[in-house]
Amino acid sequence: MSTKNFDVVVIGGGPGGYIAAIRAAQLGFNAACIDEWKNEKGGPAPGGTCTNVGCIPSKALLQSSEHFEHANHHFAEHGITADNVQIDVAKMIGRKATVVKQNNDGILYLFKKNKVSFFHGRGSFVAAKDGSYEIKVAGASEETLTAKHVIIATGSNARQLPGAEFDEALILSNDGALRIPATPKKLGVIGSGVIGLEMGSVWRRLGAEVTILEAMPAFLGAADESVAKEAAKVFKKQGLDIQLGVKIASVTKGKDSVTIAYADAKGAEQSLVVDKLIVSIGRVPNTVGLNPEAVGLKLDERGAIVVDDECKTNLPNVWAVGDVVRGPMLAHKAEEEGVAVAERIAGQHGHVNFGTIPWVIYTSPEIAWVGKTEQQLKAEGVAYKAGQFPFMANGRARALGDTTGFVKMLADAKTDEILGVHIIGPFASELVSEAVVAMEFKASAEDIARICHAHPSLSEATKEAALAVDKRTLNF
Ligand code: FAD
Ligand code: NAI
Repeated sequence: MSTKNFDVVVIGGGPGGYIAAIRAAQLGFNAACIDEWKNEKGGPAPGGTCTNVGCIPSKALLQSSEHFEHANHHFAEHGITADNVQIDVAKMIGRKATVVKQNNDGILYLFKKNKVSFFHGRGSFVAAKDGSYEIKVAGASEETLTAKHVIIATGSNARQLPGAEFDEALILSNDGALRIPATPKKLGVIGSGVIGLEMGSVWRRLGAEVTILEAMPAFLGAADESVAKEAAKVFKKQGLDIQLGVKIASVTKGKDSVTIAYADAKGAEQSLVVDKLIVSIGRVPNTVGLNPEAVGLKLDERGAIVVDDECKTNLPNVWAVGDVVRGPMLAHKAEEEGVAVAERIAGQHGHVNFGTIPWVIYTSPEIAWVGKTEQQLKAEGVAYKAGQFPFMANGRARALGDTTGFVKMLADAKTDEILGVHIIGPFASELVSEAVVAMEFKASAEDIARICHAHPSLSEATKEAALAVDKRTLNF
C-alpha cells in the first residue's frame, strides 16, 4: 500500500463531491475524489445517490411512464390512434440503467479531463498529523492518502420506518422503488413527500393502484398553499389516493404482500394490503465508515456533520457539503456548496444563496418554486402583493394540451421586489429558472412584466403573473 499526497481530498463522489473535486482541480489544486458506489459488475459508479438511485433514474422512469400515459390517454385528442399500448417494464428499467451508466461514465471522463485522481473504495479518517489528514481507502483501490484540505460529501440514506426494514423486494427504499420488476397491482407508499409523489406517479401511470399514507394533516406543507391545494386536486383526479393525518401502527410482511395497519385522520383503525410498499419518509445524513472519531469530527444529534455558514467543520481545513450537512437535501444545493468550498480553499469568496435555491417536484403537472410562500410571508408579517396567471389562458399551454395550473408571483408591497414565485404546470422545472435569475438580481415584478418574452411560450405565464401583481394582466 502506497501513500499519495494531495492538496484536496474529497470523500464521496455525488453531486456535492465530484463537483467540488473538479472545481478544486480547475483552481490548480492536486485533487482526489474517493467514492465507493459500485455498479452491478462491481465497477465504479460515481455520481452518488443523485446519479445511481435518485434524480437521474427517477426522471428516466418519470419520462417513460409519462410517454405511456400520453399514448394511452392523450394521443387520441391529437388524432393519433394507438391501440393496445403495452409497457415492457424490464426494457424501461434497462433504459434507465443505460441513462445512469452514461452519467457514471461522464463523471469518470470529467475526472480525467480535469486531472482529478479517482479512487474507488471507502474513505475513512485515520489520523490528523503535521497539518494534514491521513485517509485510508479500502475497496478496489487500497491506498493511504494525505491531504491538507478534506471535503466530506458522503450524502444521505433513506430513513427506515421502525419495524419496516427495507428488503428492497417488498418494502422498498428509493433504490428498490426504481427497479420494481413488474407493475404491482397495488402499491402502498408511506410519506407523501417528493419521493412518494414522484415514485407514486411513475407506478400509477403504469397501472398500479397507488395509496399514499401521510402523517401530516396538511398536504405538501413546504409548498405555497394554493399550489398544494391545486396539486392535491389534480393528483386525486389522476387516481392517486393520498390519505393525510394517518398514524402507522404496524407493517407486516406476508409472502407476496405487505399489510399496513394504521389509524386514519379520524382515528379509525384501517388496514391496507399491498403488493409492494415504498417507504419515503425522508433521508438521514450518512457518515458510515468515515471514522469521524479518529480525528474528532463533530456530528449533531441527527448524525449530520456540524458546519457553519461556509461549510467549515469543527476541524481546521475539513469541510462538509451536501446531504450530510444542514439544509435542503437537493443535488443543486450540494453542487453549489461544493463549488463554494473549493473556491474558499483557494482564498476566493464562494457563496451559496439559500434564499434562491429552487425546489422542483417532477410530477405531472410539475411543481416548482423559489423564495417565500404566501404563508411564510404572512407569518413573518411582510406586506406583499400577489399576482397569478393560469396556464388555461396561455396559448402555448393550450397548443401543448396541458393547461393545468398557474404561475403565482409574490412581490414586496412597497418595493415590488420579487419575494417568491410558485409554479404548478407544464415544464415548471424549466420556468422556475427565470424566477431564480430575477430574484438573484433582486428584480421587481415590474422588471419581469417589462421584459419581452417569446410568443407563444409558457414563460409568458410568468410575465403575466408579474403583470397580475400590478392587476394588469393582458390575456386574462
Ligand atoms: P450523495 O449523492 O448521496 O453522494 C454521496 C456519495 O458518497 C455516494 O456515492 C456514496 O457512496 C459515497 N460515500 C459515502 N461515504 C463514503 C465513504 N466513506 N467513502 C467513499 N465514498 C463514500 N435532488 C434534486 O435536486 N433533484 C431531484 O430531482 C432529486 N431527485 C431525487 C430522487 C430520489 C429518489 C432521491 C433519493 C433523491 C433525489 N434528490 C434530488 C436528492 C439528491 O439525490 C441528493 O440531494 C444529492 O444526491 C446529494 O448529493 P451529495 O453529494 O451530498 O450525496
Ligand atoms: P420528504 O421529506 O420530501 O417527505 C417525507 C414525507 O414523509 C413527509 O411528508 C413527512 O411528513 C412524511 N412522513 C414522515 N414520517 C412519516 C410516518 N411515520 N408516516 C407517514 N408519513 C411520514 O422525503 P422523501 O420523499 O423521502 O425524500 C427525501 C429527500 O430527497 C427530499 O427531502 C428531497 O430533498 C430529496 N428529493 C428531491 C427530489 C426533487 O428535488 N425533485 C425528488 C426526490 C427526493
